[in-house]
Amino acid sequence: MYRTGIMTLSDKGSQGQREDKSGPLIQTMLESLGNYDVVKTTILPDDVDTIKESLITWVDADNLDLILTTGGTGFSQRDWTPEATAAVCDRMAPGIPEAMRYYSLQITPKAMLSRATAGIRKRTLIINLPGSPKAVKENLEAILPALDHGLEMLL
Ligand code: MTE
Repeated sequence: MYRTGIMTLSDKGSQGQREDKSGPLIQTMLESLGNYDVVKTTILPDDVDTIKESLITWVDADNLDLILTTGGTGFSQRDWTPEATAAVCDRMAPGIPEAMRYYSLQITPKAMLSRATAGIRKRTLIINLPGSPKAVKENLEAILPALDHGLEMLL
């Protein structure tokens, strides 16, 4: 079982002003596969230091195999998830966001507006997903066929 964390980045969500539908959707999609155990979930504000600290804790203290973030990948002034992710990674995995955008561009040209990234800190794979449930579903569909193999290589 891959120990997985799901981190929702949303100012409104973290203040209880908006229901988080994307985090639970990721959890449902992963748990239906049978080999992913979601052991951590959280909703945080779009604050780059908070995101960095939380990612570091989930890797260094909690030893997760996989962290999926949702939200904060666009162009607004508070979208800093990719920068926080890159700052804590040892190595980047550009093929993952390439695959997500390649797949998603066949659905909507707005896919080019996601700045999502992915990388590896120690033995943990961190992947950004956009914020909306629709985008989460489509981006996860794009990467699930290769995800197990990527995680196996990190064991
Ligand atoms: N990717 C897919 N597959 N489907 C979508 O609907 N929405 C896009 C993009 N990626 C979308 C998508 C939009 S509208 C934006 S603004 C960016 O993701 C960034 O989203 P975020 O700011 O919620 O992270």
